Amino acid sequence: MKLLSSFIIFIFPLVFPCVILSSKSYQQLQLPGVVGPESLAFDCNGEGPYVGVSDGRILKWKAANSGWTEFATTAPHRAREICDGSTNTTLEPLCGRPLGIKFNPVTCDLYIADAYFGLMVVGPNGGQAQQLASSAGGIPFRFTNDLDIDPNTGIVYFTDSSIYFQRRQYFMSIATGDRSGRLLKYDPLKKNVTVMYNGLSFPNGVALSNNNSFLLLAESATLKILRFWLQGERTTYTPQLFAEMPRFPDNIKSDSKGEFWIAMNSARGKIESNKKTAFCEETAKPWFLRDPVGVKFDVNGNVVDVLDGNEGNTLNSVSEVQEYGGYLYTGSSVQPYVVVIKA
Ligand SMILES: *[C@@H]1O[C@H](CO)[C@@H](O)[C@H](O)[C@H]1NC(C)=O
Ligand SMILES: *[C@@H]1O[C@H](CO)[C@@H](O)[C@H](O)[C@H]1NC(C)=O
Ligand SMILES: *[C@@H]1O[C@H](CO)[C@@H](O)[C@H](O)[C@H]1NC(C)=O
Repeated sequence: MKLLSSFIIFIFPLVFPCVILSSKSYQQLQLPGVVGPESLAFDCNGEGPYVGVSDGRILKWKAANSGWTEFATTAPHRAREICDGSTNTTLEPLCGRPLGIKFNPVTCDLYIADAYFGLMVVGPNGGQAQQLASSAGGIPFRFTNDLDIDPNTGIVYFTDSSIYFQRRQYFMSIATGDRSGRLLKYDPLKKNVTVMYNGLSFPNGVALSNNNSFLLLAESATLKILRFWLQGERTTYTPQLFAEMPRFPDNIKSDSKGEFWIAMNSARGKIESNKKTAFCEETAKPWFLRDPVGVKFDVNGNVVDVLDGNEGNTLNSVSEVQEYGGYLYTGSSVQPYVVVIKA
């Protein structure tokens, strides 16, 4: 099984176009003194990107001349004089830390997975977000991470990476083999949260398929992408292995064709996985990929594209790759910018 999936990953690079950053034109949208645009969203009018950043705010990009403006905040008692402009992770429980964000394309509300304040929502004009849920099955969320929304039902699928460790202690979750992460769903009509699956090792990105028949979930600590089928009135869910990744997978974003970009965190020297060699160094082939920071899969799990960081600093620590309007946008949980690449 292992051999077979490696083989599939290795053989596909022969036929897909590889986006190598150094040979592409790209632009960096520099943030105003903050870092960590972990996830990106575009609103109902196609404006954005919007990003959640280190000081707990959600910022909106308003094109080249006006830059970033504040759109929303998450923490209920956020002290602006302490928080605004902060890059100090110790302050996150006070200031908030919005991670996964996405607009519901029907209501135009922005849903937010804040690492410290759970599942939240804010209207199309922004402001202070409202908390929708902070626990499930009697257990508080500890590290709400990413979400996606079924536009037909409004159901929000989201992840809580750990019930023990907060975002600032993410490394402990990986180091201790913590398996307390959960896949959850919020029903906006019943206004409650159901645990779909628990016992996950650092569940992270989540993305629905085009027709909402399944979702993909990145189980970061095991380097696996799991597929959960959603059709019918299900009360139990059994994941299938969709792909194995050479580095820690982070957010997953579907594009207009229903294919999935899965970002991988290179975090060189920090939490680099030892599986990197399996992808990069055992094979000195012409299509040799040195530094994959994003891999695009079709619905069957075939690799159809790769974004290669070319071992430069620009795409070090990519947390999200999102294809929108002919561009690739990349987020990062540590860098002070968003990268926009002509696709
Ligand atoms: C971060 O904030 C904490 C709490 O206010 C403070 O003790 C610490 O010195 C700050 N760290 C940095 C690097 O500013
Ligand atoms: C959610 O609410 C519905 C309707 O009020 C109820 O039937 C269901 O049991 C609730 N589920 C949970 C997990 O609380
Ligand atoms: C949805 O798409 C999946 C493949 O992605 C396919 O197997 C399934 O039949 C589709 N379902 C509907 C209702 O179209």
